[in-house]
Formats: sequence, structure tokens, C-alpha cells
Amino acid sequence: MAARTSWVTDMPEVTRSTPREIEDATSAKVALDINKLCGIVGNSAALRRVLGNVRVVAPTDATVLVNGETGTGKELIAEAIHKCSKRSKGPFVKVNCAAIPTNLLESELFGHERGAFTGAIARRVGRFELASGGTVFLDEIGEMPLELQPKLLRVLQDRQFERLGDSRTLRSDARLIAATNRDLQAMVNEQKFRLDLYYRLNVFPVRVSALRERPEDIPLLVRHFVQQFSRRMNKSIDTIPSDIMNALVRHPWPGNVRELQNVIERAVIVSTGLILKLSMEELQLSADAPPVRSHGNGSLRATLEEAERQEIIAALEKTIGKIAGPNGAAALLGMSRSTLHSRMQKLGISVLRTATCR
Ligand SMILES: Nc1ncnc2c1ncn2[C@@H]1O[C@H](COP(=O)(O)OP(=O)(O)OP(=O)(O)O)[C@@H](O)[C@H]1O
Ligand SMILES: [Mg+2]
Repeated sequence: MAARTSWVTDMPEVTRSTPREIEDATSAKVALDINKLCGIVGNSAALRRVLGNVRVVAPTDATVLVNGETGTGKELIAEAIHKCSKRSKGPFVKVNCAAIPTNLLESELFGHERGAFTGAIARRVGRFELASGGTVFLDEIGEMPLELQPKLLRVLQDRQFERLGDSRTLRSDARLIAATNRDLQAMVNEQKFRLDLYYRLNVFPVRVSALRERPEDIPLLVRHFVQQFSRRMNKSIDTIPSDIMNALVRHPWPGNVRELQNVIERAVIVSTGLILKLSMEELQLSADAPPVRSHGNGSLRATLEEAERQEIIAALEKTIGKIAGPNGAAALLGMSRSTLHSRMQKLGISVLRTATCR
């Protein structure tokens, strides 16, 4: 006899058994697996969709183009695709196309022979060779110089390239994942990006939503970063005042998750006790900030309640329904057992214990 614990929400039966609920439950499971594997925090429908795409495309060798605003987590998603692929034991080789001067990028990608150009004092193996059996991640692909684009297209199409200063043709078996925060289609129209390369990259596009489009993820991310930085700085912050959380959820986050991460790091630095301190000026909440979109179903309160529900459910899933004790959901959420009980009651979450025979 083994005890199995699961949570159910106090919803009408008909709501729980509709196909949409089943679809959501499946994607929630997918999200949970990849979240754990790759340290991706969040449970919004938008993020679950992205993680569903990751799951589908990872086992294939297809080229993936990850698009999204700065700081949304594109690199994290690229890593997730690699980790969930059959190449996961191979290298994940990153190249930031914006950080390398145009004249050095070709040698960075494809390598060079000694004496290939002034300063090439030794042979250098390029990133495509280094990534053999693994994945090349080309970040900020929109910054790839036009003159280098045909060579990248050739690796993608024919898997062939040459080291600078060497006429021998080499083959690459690396998988390519590219990311950009730019509108490549618009760049093609402006003739700043080759159409043929765009088509080759855009085999499987994945769009990571801006944080303001998934405010439900904010409380989860806030708690995650507070715990992470508290641990690193040897602090024991366990309470996030609700006015601070509300302000964080309302903020438009033009710099997305990276900006949120930085704000929380600063807040943890200045907090001395158990309670997180954050000045409202820090957030520079401006009257003309765009309103938070809540996927069209209701007010900010509804969004916050849904976020809290998701957070509690995620904690209960992690602790397999255990509420109290050091490994219980209450401790994980940084609240007392009785507070968690009353929040669960208010939000219609209950833990169902059933016994099953094995
Ligand atoms: N869902 C998430 N859960 C946990 N951490 C996240 C999440 N999304 C982003 N981060 C963190 O936020 C920071 C920015 O993420 P990342 O570098 O992947 O963004 P990006 O979209 O590649 O940004 P850029 O466009 O500036 O290159 C990283 O420290 C990353 O670990
Ligand atoms: Mg990046």
C-alpha cells in the first residue's frame, strides 16, 4: 500500500474534464520537467507554450530561431533545447555576434591557419569545429555582417566550411540555435539580412514573450531570485511585503527578467532583516507606463490571485503535497503553515490524499 498525494482545485467537475484543461495539464507537466532540468522559473501559459515548443523541437536536429525582447531568457531557452536534445552530452558553444568585431567573427566561427592574417600566430579551431557533436548558439544573429552571411548559409545547407587561410573543406555536424531581439523579417526588407539565410534559420521559430505579457510569472521569479541572492549573500529574507510584490507585478519591465533579477539583487543587498526592502523610486513607476496585460481575463487582482494560485500549486507539486515541516510547501513559500492553509482555502486549492495499491 503506498500513499499517493495529489492536489486538486475546488472547481466544478465539468471545468476539470474539458479538453482544454487536459491540454493545459499536459503542458504543465512538460513545463515542470524542463523547468527543473534547466532552472527556468515560471508557469504562465505563454512560458508553458515556449517549453512545449522546446520539448517538441529538442530531439530533432532542426535549426531553431529564438526571438524575444532583451532579457526575456532566450539564452536559457537555447540551453534548454540543447539539454533536452540527444546532443546534451556534447558541447554547447556560444558566440555573441555583436561582441566580436566583424573582421574577427569569421575566424571565430570557422577558425584560421597560422599566418592567415596579421596576428594569426597559431592555428585556431573555430566554434563550428569545437561544437562537433553538440550545438552552436549564435546570439544576436541580427548583428551578423552581410558579407559573412553566405558562409553561414553554406554551413547550414551543406555543412561545409573552410578555415581562413586553408583551402581544405571541412564538415560540421553541429546543430545551430540562433537568437535575436531584432525583427529579422524587417531587416530582410531593408536588405540588411539575407532572405535565404532568414528562411534557413526560421525553420522552427520560438518566440519568448516579454515579461509584461506574462505577469503571472513575476511572483515566482521574485521569490526565486530573493531565495537565490539571499543564499548567496548569507541572508535569511523570508517575507516579501504584498505592496512590494504588487508594485513588481505592475512594473512594465522593459529589461524583462534580467532587469527584475537586478532589481531583486539590489533589494537583497540593502535588506538587513527578514523582510525584503525595496524603494518604490527604484522601480521608477511612471504614470505613462503601459498597463499590464492579463491575457484578457480580468483585473490585476485576478492576475495576482492566479499568480499566487500557480505558485502555491507549484510548491505543493514540489513537496508532493506536504504542507508543514522544513520540507513542506509553507517553508518553501516563506509563509507560516496557517497562512498557507488560509490562502489555499481562499484560492480554492485543497490537497487530496488517496491510498493506492501497488
Ligand atoms: N524564466 C526564467 N527563470 C529564471 N531565470 C531567468 C528566466 N528568464 C531569464 N532568466 C535569467 O535572466 C537573465 C537574462 O536571461 P537571458 O540571458 O537568457 O536573456 P536573453 O533574452 O538572452 O537576453 P539578451 O537579449 O539581452 O541576450 C539570465 O540571468 C537568466 O538566467
Ligand atoms: Mg542573450
